[in-house]
Amino acid sequence: QINPPKPLLVKVPEPEVDDDKKKISIFVGTQTGTAEGFAKALAEEAKARYDKATFKVVDLDDYAADDDEYEEKMKKESLALFFLATYGDGEPTENAARFYNWLIEGKERGEWLQNLKYGVFGLGNRQYEHFNKVAKVVDDILTEQGAKRLIPLGLGDDDHCIEDDFSAWCELVWPELDQLLLDEDDATTVSTPYTAAVLEYRVVFYDPADAPLEDKNWSNANGHTIYDAQHPCRSNVAVRKELHTPASDRSCTHLEFDIAGTGLSYETGDHVGVYCENLDEVVEEALRLLGLSPDTYFSVHTDKEDGTPLGGGSLPPPFPPCTLRTALARYADLLSSPKKSALLALAAHASDPIEADRLKHLASPAGKDEYAQWMVASQRSLLEAMAEFPSAKPPLGIFFAAVAPRLQPRYYSISSSPRMASSRIHVTCALVYEKTPTGRIHKGVCSTWMKNSVPSEKNHDCSWAPIFVRQSNFKLPADTKVPIIMIGPGTGLAPFRGFLQERLALKEAGAELGPSVLFFGCRNRKMDYIYEDELNNFVNSGALSELVVAFSREGPTKEYVQHKMMEKASDIWNMISQGGYIYVCGDAKGMARDVHRTLHTILQEQGSLDSSKGESMVKNLQMSGRYLRDVW
Ligand code: 2AM
Repeated sequence: QINPPKPLLVKVPEPEVDDDKKKISIFVGTQTGTAEGFAKALAEEAKARYDKATFKVVDLDDYAADDDEYEEKMKKESLALFFLATYGDGEPTENAARFYNWLIEGKERGEWLQNLKYGVFGLGNRQYEHFNKVAKVVDDILTEQGAKRLIPLGLGDDDHCIEDDFSAWCELVWPELDQLLLDEDDATTVSTPYTAAVLEYRVVFYDPADAPLEDKNWSNANGHTIYDAQHPCRSNVAVRKELHTPASDRSCTHLEFDIAGTGLSYETGDHVGVYCENLDEVVEEALRLLGLSPDTYFSVHTDKEDGTPLGGGSLPPPFPPCTLRTALARYADLLSSPKKSALLALAAHASDPIEADRLKHLASPAGKDEYAQWMVASQRSLLEAMAEFPSAKPPLGIFFAAVAPRLQPRYYSISSSPRMASSRIHVTCALVYEKTPTGRIHKGVCSTWMKNSVPSEKNHDCSWAPIFVRQSNFKLPADTKVPIIMIGPGTGLAPFRGFLQERLALKEAGAELGPSVLFFGCRNRKMDYIYEDELNNFVNSGALSELVVAFSREGPTKEYVQHKMMEKASDIWNMISQGGYIYVCGDAKGMARDVHRTLHTILQEQGSLDSSKGESMVKNLQMSGRYLRDVW
């Protein structure tokens, strides 16, 4: 969507005269809830520190309905903090995308944000090429547009301990806010650091005889016209197939969700979010550690009986009433490493004082290195950690609010096209199964669930999951005659299977197709050459002009997709010269980075360009939407 051009200069309004209290907005662009958690924690502490100000955590999507409203409201802000996550290929989260585009597109607004003082904390992962890109861009643009940076940009790194990065950033925030929000005589009163209280839900237990039917939480069309992460659609697994041959020591699942009659729809190239369940063995272990009955039927509430809110708005939204077994299976992340705040919550409920002290130590600044080693580097799961502190038995209201984070949906690039499969969403998912440093076998929650799922074609009593569709910009060119180059090793093939289904359907409907080449990579033709027959059929039917496969473990040396690209350098150059599009899908940390370098080399060599011209050609392709990446 292109927005209408903005006037070059926007009149700088007078600062809004507030009644009594200064209003501070804390904006969040959140995907998994971490940014939101930090924002709420900061707001809570700030509320306790400054009674002359109000702090409001605001979802960037809810903030404004359109660009004009963003403009109107932003120019009234005088102090704002931003918590912005970056994901995928340096992209903003879904709820920040509109704001982000609006901000970038409005570069010509001039210095119109002179009333605003701000700070940005980014959430990213250093292993990725575009580390914290969104936060960096927003931080720069706000300054360019006249706002005053109050606090240096915080770069949270999820690869280490992002909680520590957040704490360190907060230490920079407080002195600035003290100056703005405290009177001279207040200043001495904030001597003791505030420690957040452990969050807790109010829990209501049901007599099993009166318990509401669990399944009614999930009717097929769940009463919402729009499905999203908060309102997913219950969908049955219709088909499940193993894609690797028995000779492979790994596994990759082809799964089809049945969306017939649900109203859920998708486009080729979109992503599907899947809420899966923990394995029974994981749930059993959690039940054992908590020492509670699986049939305990309960609900959690974010307010007291008299309706006053609990936890200052920091509690995650409750899940529907259910048994403890269901709650542990569907809503609790039991296999990630616990956060420091979770250790403090466990410490508060450890009957053995030695255990409580050790938990507190791990969560304290003095225990920082130990936490980094013992917890993060060893990939200790919450359950493993709890097993080391058997006396810690938090009640349910604490366990679900403060110890176990909510199990997040997993996103997959959809591997079908609605032109071929309008009532099915296909997923291609590699099994995550690896030994951690403690010797635990980590079984990926969703990939394991998919691998074990029971399809309706085999059993009427089939597996199901709440799912929703996330739109993407990974789309075929509108003109079918434009050449396309697709690069997708491993499960990076997924969206291209959708693309090729779409092209086949278009061809059958009479469209003229431009040239296309697919670079696919796998280890060995006899083990993990997924969808081999289908790919050959796409070639035979003319949906795909050329299929190039790199087998990395067949010969004496590794053959990767980028090596094959070098062999086809002049074809790639020709296709791009004719206005072609390049698509890359798959692993961001290794493959996409190497492919990016190779593309740069190809353009430079084939176009006889120097390095910086080659670089700017790659940038131009990116800017014009002709070089698209769907990477994770
Ligand atoms: P490997 O496992 O033999 O290293 C799909 O996972 C394919 O991508 C595999 O053949 C894998 O090879 C290969 N692969 C691994 N790292 C890669 C990289 N940096 N660039 C391209 N392909 C890579």
